[in-house]
Amino acid sequence: MSKNVYLTTAIPYVNGAPHIGHAMDYLLADTYARYQKSLGNNVRFQAGTDEHGNKIFKKAKELNVPVQEYVDTNARKFQDFIKKLGVENTDFIRTSDKEHVRRCQEIWRRLSAHIYKNSYEGWYCEGCERFITEKEVEENGGICPDHQKPYEKLEEENYYLRISDFKAEIAQKIESGEMLVLPDFRKNEVLKLLEDTPDVSISRPTEHLSWGVPVPDDPSQVMYVWVDALANYITVLGYPEQDISDFWPAEVQFVGKDILRFHAIIWPAILLGLGLPLPKVLHSHGHILANGAKMSKSIGNVVDPLEVVERHGLTAFRYYFLRHCDTFLDSDFTWDDFERAYAGELANDLGNLVQRLATLCKKADLSGIKFETPKLDAEYKKLMDEFYSSRAFDVAWSKVQDVNKAIDGTKPWMIAKEGDQEKLEKVLKELVEQLLAANALIAPFLPDTSAKILSIFTAEKILPPEVPLFPKG
Ligand code: MSP
Repeated sequence: MSKNVYLTTAIPYVNGAPHIGHAMDYLLADTYARYQKSLGNNVRFQAGTDEHGNKIFKKAKELNVPVQEYVDTNARKFQDFIKKLGVENTDFIRTSDKEHVRRCQEIWRRLSAHIYKNSYEGWYCEGCERFITEKEVEENGGICPDHQKPYEKLEEENYYLRISDFKAEIAQKIESGEMLVLPDFRKNEVLKLLEDTPDVSISRPTEHLSWGVPVPDDPSQVMYVWVDALANYITVLGYPEQDISDFWPAEVQFVGKDILRFHAIIWPAILLGLGLPLPKVLHSHGHILANGAKMSKSIGNVVDPLEVVERHGLTAFRYYFLRHCDTFLDSDFTWDDFERAYAGELANDLGNLVQRLATLCKKADLSGIKFETPKLDAEYKKLMDEFYSSRAFDVAWSKVQDVNKAIDGTKPWMIAKEGDQEKLEKVLKELVEQLLAANALIAPFLPDTSAKILSIFTAEKILPPEVPLFPKG
């Protein structure tokens, strides 16, 4: 029976253009969405942009551009980027949308039993947009390792969310897997963090932060950017005025490992405070490095994703990031690896295979195959259901390689030479069926290529593509 499946992706800050790291959330979610659709399920898939906060405000000021205009321009870059990646999101939310702002204020009101005002002095990292504990400051020698900037001392009157109201329940749900934290090795890390988390400051005085959602009934305060950002996952569904139970709880929320803490602590506290269920899965992927280092504008090693797409097309982009970047671990991007994957695997294993097999079919005058998608390979299905897509892709690829081996083993060209047309047709038909079965497994990862292959071998007359699927050069 078909079911509703809601998937979400982290909403990037719009203080710059997208980089290749941003592609991970989208590609993982898109692959899973396509897989779910192929199982007949009804998918809702949110994406969006995180547009508030000081980082963005300061950047716009630096450039001397009105903030709204600045975020409009950058939000558009993310929307274009998602399209270029062939991502089939159903919703796109911007946190500067009026509806979102209004809904966040309503959410705040509904949380009021768990909110209190207090004054606080502590260390703050602007890059992380959060207060840092004394312990962390000590461990990092006073400098944020992610942003290479000294922590600042900040004293403020803030509203607080009483995380302590929910700690035990969140811990129980993580421990029991009711909210499954993936990968498993992050689970204990998150439980430890949760234990050490004090109540969280969820607002800033307007003199420190003006670009945000105003706290209802208190013009002196603006919501902390993470509160309004996290709320996007439900405001996009129309919460609170609409019943969201058709899609909430989310089947899976895709986030990078650096922001798992917000999704595993503050977000569940907000949801429990609202009386809403927690997402079924929190999926935290690894990071993409460039030549072994974290990508950063100051190091100057940021890889432009559009350049990567342009080099050999979208299929090559999706292939590299979905197969060569392990879903849960950090992975390195180098142009050499990318080129090798394109020429050695896509062009060689798959492109040549299609060319070769279609040419043999054409010579044998074999008509298109009536193909019904067979039952999914069990190992593949298990890996997809466990959200380990890079490994599932490995399984799919091994099936492609099996077809190459089967061609070498059955040697259809020899059968053709012997003139045994009946045997030739039987062998070729089996090979085509084997290829189409592998092709079905590839479909969620490389939808365009998979569609092309299907149309070549199911056409009335099988003909090799005039231009190879993956041209050299
Ligand atoms: N705005 C917050 C997210 C709010 S979600 C309610 C944010 N934005 S971000 O632009 O810094 O990151 C957006 C997503 O991209 C996050 O999932 C983050 O982990 C991911 N990545 C950012 N750099 C990355 C890599 N180098 N590699 C892989 N993913 C990375 O955090």
